[in-house]
Amino acid sequence: MARARWRSVRREGGGLAIRPERPWDGWGASLITSTIMPQVRISNVRELAHGETRKYTFERTGELREGFLLRYGDTFVAYLNECRHWRVDLDAGEGRFFSAKLNRIYCRTHGACYVPLTGECDFGPCAGERLEQFDVHLEGEDAIVNIPELGHARK
Ligand code: FES
Repeated sequence: MARARWRSVRREGGGLAIRPERPWDGWGASLITSTIMPQVRISNVRELAHGETRKYTFERTGELREGFLLRYGDTFVAYLNECRHWRVDLDAGEGRFFSAKLNRIYCRTHGACYVPLTGECDFGPCAGERLEQFDVHLEGEDAIVNIPELGHARK
């Protein structure tokens, strides 16, 4: 699958915006520009079932990063796709983050388990730490994820 490419654009009157070089073609997500905080729109999230996820990408400090949105019951939560143990993708690139059997988000590398609604690791090598969580809200059928600059993320 082709990955979307993003470029930073300095806005008139200040602020940095991030724009895709071409329309999103993969995961049904698109980046919304903002002078306050970059946002990612993920379309049709209400069709996700409990435990299903949708990945998205964004740029931060010049680096392309990946996050995931999880539907948990009637709640949607969004996290950075990065284990707190090592800096690796939780899903090892496979797009699966949640185990219904464990009722946890889990890391496919060494098995760290995270509480779905808080991102707190309650089992594994990084127990007590938290996934980087992003604010998310719904707009119609879509989810909007706010991506803070480093240092302002909810932990
Ligand atoms: S890298 Fe995730 S538990 Fe080790």
